[in-house]
Amino acid sequence: MAELRRTTWCGEVKQELVGTQVCVAGWVDRRRDHGNVVFINLRDRTGNVQLVFDPGFDASVMSTAQDLRLEYVVAAKGTLVNRAPEAVNDKIPTGHFEIKISQVVLYAKSEALPFQLEAAEKVTEELRLKYRYLDLRRVAMHRMMKLRHELVFSIRDYMNNLNFYEIETPNLSKSTPEGARDFLVPSRMNKGTFYALPQSPQIYKQLLMVGGMERYFQIARCFRDEDLRSNRQPEFTQLDIEMSFINEEDVYDVCEGLMQRLWKQFLNIDLPRPFRRYSFDEMFCRFGSDKPDMRFGLEINDVTPVFAPIQIGFLQEILVASGKVGALCVKNKIFSRSELDHWVDRVTKEFKSKGLIYVRFNEDKTPTGPLAKQLPATFFEDMKKQIPDLTEKDTLFIVASDFDDAWDILGKLRIELGKTLQLIDKNRYEMFWVTEFPMFEWNKEEQRWDAKHHPFTSPNAGWRDLPLKEVKARAYDLVCNGEELGGGSIRIHDAQTQAAVFELLGLSPEETKQKFGFLLEAQQFGYPPEGGIAFGVDRLVMILGGTESIRDVIAFPKTQKGSCLMMETPSEVDQKQLRELGIKVL
Ligand code: AMO
Repeated sequence: MAELRRTTWCGEVKQELVGTQVCVAGWVDRRRDHGNVVFINLRDRTGNVQLVFDPGFDASVMSTAQDLRLEYVVAAKGTLVNRAPEAVNDKIPTGHFEIKISQVVLYAKSEALPFQLEAAEKVTEELRLKYRYLDLRRVAMHRMMKLRHELVFSIRDYMNNLNFYEIETPNLSKSTPEGARDFLVPSRMNKGTFYALPQSPQIYKQLLMVGGMERYFQIARCFRDEDLRSNRQPEFTQLDIEMSFINEEDVYDVCEGLMQRLWKQFLNIDLPRPFRRYSFDEMFCRFGSDKPDMRFGLEINDVTPVFAPIQIGFLQEILVASGKVGALCVKNKIFSRSELDHWVDRVTKEFKSKGLIYVRFNEDKTPTGPLAKQLPATFFEDMKKQIPDLTEKDTLFIVASDFDDAWDILGKLRIELGKTLQLIDKNRYEMFWVTEFPMFEWNKEEQRWDAKHHPFTSPNAGWRDLPLKEVKARAYDLVCNGEELGGGSIRIHDAQTQAAVFELLGLSPEETKQKFGFLLEAQQFGYPPEGGIAFGVDRLVMILGGTESIRDVIAFPKTQKGSCLMMETPSEVDQKQLRELGIKVL
C-alpha cells in the first residue's frame, strides 16, 4: 500500500497554508455526493476538514472517492484552497477551507457502526461502553481526554516547581484502612496468602516521610470495593501529597495555589485566596452535609422549638428521645399535589426517611397540608421566629428524627430540590475548606467507633480529656460545588497516641501488630511530624470539564455494577489458573 505522510492536522488547516500541498489523515466523518463531485469530511483528533474529489481537478482519485463510506480510514493529499463565499461553513473552525484532492490512500474500511457518533447522546450508555473505543472517537470524549492529560501535566509541573518528588508506590500491597472493602489478589508463590490493592497509598506516604523524602506526590491508582455512584469508580486516580515538618497552613497553601492555577488555566477564573474555612459542625447544621453545594441557599432550619409544645404522637416520641425537627423553606413556590407526593415518595424510598411533612399556607397564613388540623393557629408566627424570612407563599418540608438522620435526609432533599427547581448557577464555583471533623464516628450496625477520616489522623491536643464523640481531628476536606475534591490530615506522629487510637477503634494489640506493626516500628526510628492530602483527579476533571458523571472522564470506566462491558470483566478464569493459586470457588 502506498503511504502518504500527514503534514497537517484536519482541525488545524489555516490561511497561511492556502495554495500549498497538504496531506491529512483520519476517519470519514460525513460524505456527500454531488453528481460527479464527492465531498468528504475527514476527522482526526483535532477536528474536521472538507476534502473535495472532483474529476475536473484530478480524475485518478475518483474511484477511491466513490468507495469511501463513513468511518473508513484514509490519508489524502491535495491543494488547500479557500471555499467559494457561498460554500463557507461558519459552524466549524475550518469552514473557510477545503482540500482539492490529488492523491488518496484507503487504509481501512469500516462496518456500519453500532451507533452513530453524532447521535451518541440518544443511545444507551451500555451501548457506548460496550464499544467504548468508538465512543472515544467523539469530539466530547476527545475534549475530556485532552483536558485530563493537560490537568495531570499541569499538576506535575506545579508540584515539581515546589520541590516535590514524584514517587511510585506498590499496587500489590496490604490492606489500607480507608473504609471500603479491599480488592484482593491471590499469591501463587505463597499459596493461601493475598495482596490487597491499595485503597490509597496512605501508609507508604507516611513511610516515605520516615525515609526522609520530605515532600512527595504521586498520581496514584486507588482501588476500593464500595457502592458505586456517579462520582465513584472502583479504581480511580488520586493526586496524593505528603509533607514533613509542616502544619495545616502549609498544606492549605500548596493546595490553594494548585487550585488557583488549575481554575485559571482551564476556566480562566481567578479563585480568591485564602479559601474560606468552615467547621464540620457548622456545615452539617446548615446543610446536612460535610460537602455542601454552596451555589444556592435553602439552608436547614432547626424548628424543634415550634413542635415541642404540639401534641402530635409520633413527633412527641421523637422529641422525647432527644430527636430534632428540621425544615427546608422553599421560597415562593406552590407545589402541586402530585409534586408533593413525588417528594414524599422519594424522601421515604431513596433517602430512607420514615416520612416527610409538608406545610403550605393559606392567604390568611393558616397552615394547610396533612398535619394542618393538628397545628395551632399561631403556627405561622411560631415558625417565623425560627425562619425570619418566611412568607405565606413558601412551602415547608419538615423531617423529624434523631439529629444526624434528620439533617442527613434534609441535606439530600436540599440537593435534589436545588437541581429540580434550578436553583444552582452552573457557572459558579464555590470552593472552601471544611475542618474540625469529628475524630471518631459511631458505627450503629457494628456497635463500635470508627475513624471518621482514617486511624492515622491526629486528634486535636487535649483529646484524652474529652468524650469520644467530642474529639475533633486535625483533618480537612476541600469541597467544590457539592463534591469532596480532596481530603487529608496532619498525622499522628508518636507511637503511643497511634496505639491508643487503634485500641479505641477496637483493634487488639495482636491485630494492630499484624496489620500495622511495620508502621508502629517505623515510628520508633525518628518519625518527623507530617501531614498530607489526596485529591480525586477524576473529580477535578469532572468539575473542570462540566460533567456530572465520572464515567465521562475515564477512558475505560466500569459500570455502576463494577463491570467493563467491553472486555466483559470481571470474568471466570480457568480451573488451571485456580489450581495454581490454590483456590477453590464455592
Ligand atoms: P480519601 O479517602 O478522602 O482520602 O480520598 C481522597 C479523594 O479521593 C477521591 N475519591 C474517589 N474518587 C473516585 N472514586 C472513588 N471511589 C473515590 N474515593 C475517593 C475523592 C476524595 O476526596 N489517604 C487519604 C488521603 C490523606 O489522608 O492524605 C485518602 O485517600 O475526591
